[in-house]
Amino acid sequence: MSKQFAVIGNPIEHSRSPELHHQFAEKTHIDLSYKKRLAELDDFEVSVKDFFSDANAVGMNVTVPFKAQAFALCTHLSERATIAKAVNTLWMENGELHGDNTDGQGLVEAIHALDWSLQNSRILIIGAGGATRGVIYPLAQAGVTHITIANRTLARAEQLVSDLRDAVPHIELSACGLDQLHGEYDLIINATSASLTGDTLILPETLQFKYAYEMAYGKPSSFIDQAKARGVPTSEGFGMLVGQAIEAFYIWNGVKPNLKDFI
Ligand code: ATR
Repeated sequence: MSKQFAVIGNPIEHSRSPELHHQFAEKTHIDLSYKKRLAELDDFEVSVKDFFSDANAVGMNVTVPFKAQAFALCTHLSERATIAKAVNTLWMENGELHGDNTDGQGLVEAIHALDWSLQNSRILIIGAGGATRGVIYPLAQAGVTHITIANRTLARAEQLVSDLRDAVPHIELSACGLDQLHGEYDLIINATSASLTGDTLILPETLQFKYAYEMAYGKPSSFIDQAKARGVPTSEGFGMLVGQAIEAFYIWNGVKPNLKDFI
């Protein structure tokens, strides 16, 4: 029987994880089966336990809206999952549930695959939700020296900065409101859900940047449109999705597929 994997979420139909993991398996000659698993909102824990009761079950990815519940369920957490307060990768070891969060490293790998340098860079992240929280520590580990978090609701950005400051003491971390966007950055990242809901983000002329990354993908993005109009290189979140999947695959199987083969 092949190794069993699944991605759990609600909704789950749109997930591209099974397709990606089967592509990695083919490339690395690993025999596995990776399925989508829909859980009811109040049934996450039961569904996870049921999955891991199969002797061939190896790992699970966790997506919206269960990453915080997965974090709460684990008895062993990686440092980056502890800081993110969210788990997207689960596995069992000696009967105990382990959790990691590969989303941030997925973004770092996607940026490296674009040959955009993070070393000594200044980054502006727009948005102060879970997506932003998950990427700060991996970005700092990748050599970023300055991160500004800009959010529509300023208090949320300030809260995130105060929560994360001790986790990344060697970088300059600051918060601002969306109406205060200005200055020079190497990279700006849209971590808001604006493009998913069809909302427009305005990037003022006083904001200068060399690269722009949109975490969402497959939707029209006013953020990307404005960056392109300025002639700035852009990318959308498919690379990050592949990057987080590769990191999870590596944790479970000990083999790391090459990101550039899949984007
Ligand atoms: P996630 O976990 O994906 O980050 P979230 O926690 O719901 O999702 O956060 C969504 C982020 O997108 C927030 O920073 C939100 O700003 P607020 O904190 O002010 O709500 C931001 N956001 C959503 N729609 C937006 C819009 N139209 N313009 C600007 N920011 C928006």
